[in-house]
Amino acid sequence: LKLGVLISGSGTNLQALIDAAAQGDYPAEINVVICNRPNAGGIERAKKAGIPVAVIDHTEYEIREKFEAALQECLMEHGVQLVCLAGFMRILNADFVNKWRDRMINIHPSLLPAYKGLHTHARALEDGVRFAGCTIHFVRPEMDNGPIIMQAAIPILPVDTPESLAARTLTFEHQMYPAAVRLIAEGKVRVSGHKVVIKEADI
Ligand code: GRF
Repeated sequence: LKLGVLISGSGTNLQALIDAAAQGDYPAEINVVICNRPNAGGIERAKKAGIPVAVIDHTEYEIREKFEAALQECLMEHGVQLVCLAGFMRILNADFVNKWRDRMINIHPSLLPAYKGLHTHARALEDGVRFAGCTIHFVRPEMDNGPIIMQAAIPILPVDTPESLAARTLTFEHQMYPAAVRLIAEGKVRVSGHKVVIKEADI
């Protein structure tokens, strides 16, 4: 399966995918990394792995549609079959999202549908909930919404800060992203209505 990974930041989830794809039996490869921020740390990770990187800086486009047209062109050019949002911090219009319906996934650092949006860990601590988590889901036009592919629940400890919780959550994200992409690549993930059905109960 040919992946296009979209990033805005440090790219540790991208790194997890790079490391997984470097293993011989992994059923997906990263054809292109697209980054909307020229100084993002993730760009180096892609270069180091010899993966084509496109910097498509949203500030150079007057309107979102033009930025998205550039994204689309780049994804097509590289033959991308599955778009992986990995810390990509731009909202995408419905037109773009619908083009990639059931072929675009996102990772979010909460147990969706709780804590959509930003500052998930600080908000969870503020509320005193006992579990944080992370979610991989197919992307729908509403932010952090869509059929859930995989989740991990992470106990919140009394000593946790937003930073410690974020760091612990990331270690789960790094395991989950390659695992979810593998399931999709192996054809085991089907969308049925607003839910995902996993074909083989092996997770
Ligand atoms: C992750 O916590 C991800 O869940 C969120 O943004 C962060 C990206 O981190 N959407 P990285 O760039 O992969 O290190």
